[in-house]
Amino acid sequence: MDVIEAICSRQSIRGYKPTPVTKETLREILDIATRSPSGDNAQTWEITVVTGEVLDNIRWGNVERFTSGVTPNPDFALGRLEGVYRQRQVELGIQLFQLMGIAREDRDKRTQWRQRGYRFFDAPAAIILSADSSLSESRILLDAGLISQTICLAALNYGLGTCIGVQGITYPEVVREFTNIPTSRRIIVSIAIGYPDWDFPANKLESQREPVESITTWCGFE
Ligand SMILES: Cc1cc2nc3c(=O)[nH]c(=O)nc-3n(C[C@H](O)[C@H](O)[C@H](O)COP(=O)(O)O)c2cc1C
Repeated sequence: MDVIEAICSRQSIRGYKPTPVTKETLREILDIATRSPSGDNAQTWEITVVTGEVLDNIRWGNVERFTSGVTPNPDFALGRLEGVYRQRQVELGIQLFQLMGIAREDRDKRTQWRQRGYRFFDAPAAIILSADSSLSESRILLDAGLISQTICLAALNYGLGTCIGVQGITYPEVVREFTNIPTSRRIIVSIAIGYPDWDFPANKLESQREPVESITTWCGFE
């Protein structure tokens, strides 16, 4: 697949077919994605791939905590958005709920939707990135961002869809219980991965972007 085509066709997939993704395929994707650049080539990322019973245990551990009202305590919090950033977040929510037929006042359906995030959108596999906590936060996050996008792009070549997400790792103690990620590593982000269910309404979302001119300052041009 052409690189421009991959960048332009990638989208977050929030509904998957149950078809498993083989270890070989995931291994190939990771072999490719670990070609991502990193500061000083330090390759700060550590990768944990989960599927089957392990992933199911994490899903249900998350949902159980969420429904019991346990306050999420992620190793990295994205933080609240305000102003134009909050507006974009709200627009995304409106688009998603419209597609999913979730009315604003329908608390049950909204809760069910949030649970879906905690279940890694029912994807057959998920990739969890972590990094040694002795490393600086900025280094960890920049490197993880680069490899995350590369994983998502490489996955397209295998007909796979992805969704980068923080909900699934918002209870890091659950992830640690069922994986070998020690507390000496900070859990950064997860990537749900699987074959897209194109009939799933949320997968029809075409997310918006600001025009380049409104976010770019050109310096030194004629
Ligand atoms: C750091 C990060 C965290 C994200 N967390 C979530 C999440 O918890 N739930 C979700 O549905 N999407 C999540 N997303 C996906 C974004 O909502 C999505 O990338 C954005 O709306 C743009 O849409 P697109 O990926 O389809 O282009 C996350 C993306 C990033 C980069």
